[in-house]
Amino acid sequence: MPGSQDNVAIDLPNGFQPSSRDGQGNLDGYALRNVDQAELDDRLSESIRRRVEAGNLVLPQLPETALKIMELLGDANADIEDIEEVIETDPSLCGEVLRLASSPLYGAPMSLRTVGDAVRRVGFRGLRGLVLALSFKGTVFRDRRLVKYASEVWRQARSVGEMGRAVAPMFGLEPAEAFLLALLSDIGKVAMMDLLSQEIQRDGTLMDLVHTGLVGDALYRNHEMVGGAMAEDWGLSADLVSVASCHHRYYENDEHPRQAAFVSFIHRLDLYLSEADEEAFLGAAKATELDFVGLSVSDRGRILSTAYEAFRSLHCQTVG
Ligand SMILES: [Fe+2]
Repeated sequence: MPGSQDNVAIDLPNGFQPSSRDGQGNLDGYALRNVDQAELDDRLSESIRRRVEAGNLVLPQLPETALKIMELLGDANADIEDIEEVIETDPSLCGEVLRLASSPLYGAPMSLRTVGDAVRRVGFRGLRGLVLALSFKGTVFRDRRLVKYASEVWRQARSVGEMGRAVAPMFGLEPAEAFLLALLSDIGKVAMMDLLSQEIQRDGTLMDLVHTGLVGDALYRNHEMVGGAMAEDWGLSADLVSVASCHHRYYENDEHPRQAAFVSFIHRLDLYLSEADEEAFLGAAKATELDFVGLSVSDRGRILSTAYEAFRSLHCQTVG
């Protein structure tokens, strides 16, 4: 990994112990290091490649309740009571809004008597982030046959979201925006999982061909190609659309290169931490993304130790 900075001090108080699932791999890791291309020369892989290249995709839609809330959040004439009414039609969403409003993210505990109280506490931006995160999760877990892969896509999204939120100020970003930017950056993987599900639905015998290498490769190779369309379909903001369609080659993102470099870097950290690769993780202090955004040596050490703590605290809980 080329870079220009030396002697970066990184303080990890208890040594390198990234998570309770150390070294269990990461779908991107399979795609980048472990995939034997000959193994992928099969019907399912070919079929996916043909459909992506032809743009022949049916993208998963935003769930109905989420769509209504997003419309209200974009309507200057809508008020909290309108939004409350829609949230109350979905008991699980009600619970999540109350849970978020009671979390330490929003300061000292206080009594919340209604869903409206909870919405006032998290604000429209917090509600929008929650609705999109739950839509991402609900959509990626739709096909129970693919739960093993969906779990990893969701783990990664939450992990990069939380690390992104934690280090945002050091990149000059606002934490809630950075969380959403990182969380949704790989939204193209949701579309790819749905495509995989459609292919298996079409021909049940294809399920026998699904394996980690194939899923990792299909998701990694195509997620940016379909990510922009998916982000646009879900009504995400222009920076999210741009970053979803181009982040691993952040230097080619002409519209939002700093945000793209930020996302690329956070993904890099998640890959190294989820594979318990200490050498690569510490070496990330010299990552080209950090040169690109012009971060100082002192910031680099702090970024790594802060991201490490955010990763540890998320992964030492169950990623649910
Ligand atoms: Fe990505």
